[in-house]
Amino acid sequence: MSERTEQLRKIKDAIVNLTESPLYEYRTENNYFPVIGQGNHYADIMFIGEAPGKNEAEQGRPFCGASGRVLDELLESIDLKRENVYVTNIVKDRPPNNRDPHKAEIELYSPFLEQQIDIIQPNVIATLGRFSMEFILKKYDAPEAKQKISQLHGTVVKVTTGYGEASVVPLFHPAAALYNPSQRTTLEDDFKVLTQFISSDQ
Ligand code: URA
Repeated sequence: MSERTEQLRKIKDAIVNLTESPLYEYRTENNYFPVIGQGNHYADIMFIGEAPGKNEAEQGRPFCGASGRVLDELLESIDLKRENVYVTNIVKDRPPNNRDPHKAEIELYSPFLEQQIDIIQPNVIATLGRFSMEFILKKYDAPEAKQKISQLHGTVVKVTTGYGEASVVPLFHPAAALYNPSQRTTLEDDFKVLTQFISSDQ
């Protein structure tokens, strides 16, 4: 097992045993799994969503329901294979009725996301939706953190991480495209911004 896989496994174990989470009981009552993350541990591009939905919590995999199908189509539209990226969320357990994550939940789970970023060291952090965008831009002290996703989507924000320079690409959440064709067009256009970061061997 690679060193990164070993480190990521420790994060998984800690989340599995996170009995202090306000979402823990809901997880066990419903036989849900926590959703840790999935993909290439050496990915150049990491996608960060909000929190698992029902399908994700049932399968323990991120973006495997309706939003995941949109994400897969968007990845395909830029010839990016899902197995070459890493996909995760800020909050690792499903909030009841898909409500927005609470501040306390983001605070509890975000250190795990921070560890995942530091282990995988992606050159590009593509945030899906406003929760992950706000968290990541604040974390890296980006002046753009004051701006809204409606202004920042599809742009590249350079940040300095503990492992070097990285690019944050804020994107709308794929769920936004489910019932809104114009949001889908916007997402397709915004995903094209990622092509500059895709190396020819992917
Ligand atoms: N929405 C998210 O933000 N994450 C998932 O994993 C699925 C849906």
